[in-house]
Amino acid sequence: MSNGTEREQWGSKIGFILAAAGSAVGLGNIWRFPYMVGQNGGAAFVLVYVALIFIIGFSVMLAEIAIGRAAQLNAVGSFKKLKGGVWPLVGWMGVAAGFIILSYYGVIAGWTMAYIVKSFTGLMGAAADGAAADVFVGFITNPGAVIAWQALFMVITIYIVYKGIGGGIEKYCKVLMPALFLLLLILIVRSVTLEGAGSGINFYLKPDFSKITGGTLGAALGQAFFSLSLGMGCMITYGSYLGKKEVLPGAAAQVCFLDTMVAFLAGLVIFPAVFAFGIEPGAGPGLTFITLPNVFGQMPGGSVWSALFFLLLFVAALTSAISLLEVVTAYFMDEMKWSRAKSAWTMGVVIFLLGIPSALGLAGMLPKFGGRDFLDSADFIASNVLLPLGGLFIALFVGWVWTDGAKQEVENSGTAPFGLYVPWLWVCRIVAPLAIAYIFITGLKW
Ligand code: PHE
Repeated sequence: MSNGTEREQWGSKIGFILAAAGSAVGLGNIWRFPYMVGQNGGAAFVLVYVALIFIIGFSVMLAEIAIGRAAQLNAVGSFKKLKGGVWPLVGWMGVAAGFIILSYYGVIAGWTMAYIVKSFTGLMGAAADGAAADVFVGFITNPGAVIAWQALFMVITIYIVYKGIGGGIEKYCKVLMPALFLLLLILIVRSVTLEGAGSGINFYLKPDFSKITGGTLGAALGQAFFSLSLGMGCMITYGSYLGKKEVLPGAAAQVCFLDTMVAFLAGLVIFPAVFAFGIEPGAGPGLTFITLPNVFGQMPGGSVWSALFFLLLFVAALTSAISLLEVVTAYFMDEMKWSRAKSAWTMGVVIFLLGIPSALGLAGMLPKFGGRDFLDSADFIASNVLLPLGGLFIALFVGWVWTDGAKQEVENSGTAPFGLYVPWLWVCRIVAPLAIAYIFITGLKW
């Protein structure tokens, strides 16, 4: 709608689902989920996580898509148009979260690109000698290389966002997402048949409820929002490119299901191998990058498998990064009347610069804040604070403020009555806000 031209739209409903799933499925599933599970006690965390996706994730997802489709605007503009008052602040918080998340997301995504190359240049040999961890540490303590890869990744992201909504993203997701899925299945077979895999499977799937603390709950909630791309207006923005005839609840459910499935499968690859190779499950952000090379090292043609895997992980990260930048870009286009080119390039470069401290912190070149390095701190503020708060307000908005509009939107003005409308509404009204507030407070206290 900027500059008086028609708002861009997805080519089809499946295009939207793929793009939304592309946003959701990313480093959150394959890099972040396993190390969160590892740091938060294993199976008990997984159970809490899945419960939160069902109860809260789906409802907030549907709420966001409905808001965006109704308003046909960016995260801030949507709240302005539907209600005004203080509500646009929720969108603002989302745009801020987009800046923060993409800043460090680009750093980790850069790692995936570097690892494609490393697959052919010594990584496999090092893994065979049990030195995959040394390769990892050697790499992240070399900020020049890390930042160069981050820059390359950001340029690719900016370029695609600058090209606009319909062009390309949909097409690539259609092929590459199923490929990632398939590869995960192959890797599960390899991982669970390693000697000593059993204790990893137990750690991942046999819950020990004494391990659930306030910290576990907070981490699981943050992970749920992060992984589903919720709480920051990403689904509002993507929903705004959706045509009026599409029916929303099924789309929201499919995106939640796909995302959870990919995370679950990633855990089934990582944990058996973590235990088989005697890696510390709480190893943190390096977990995937240390564990998987070991697995590939045990497979014939390991470097090819490794390169293929990191290539697909790169693609998954790219489709998520695009959605993060799109939130910011759409805001500057709709509200500041900037062109798509100016918004994408200017903000993309700013975000790249914001990510540099994350890279330096990992290299040990910056002080820590309360035991967390810069990347960890940025991630904590975005995922455990901004996203849950955003989700809380989005649920309240639909539950109490814009209720009739939401009903119209999810029932497509009565042409597609959604039987679960009433339960959904009550989740948005009561269940989600109370649960988020409770977890948020216990999580912070902890
Ligand atoms: N969901 C993405 C992932 O799992 C990250 C993301 C968060 C994308 C928030 C958009 C918004 O990698």
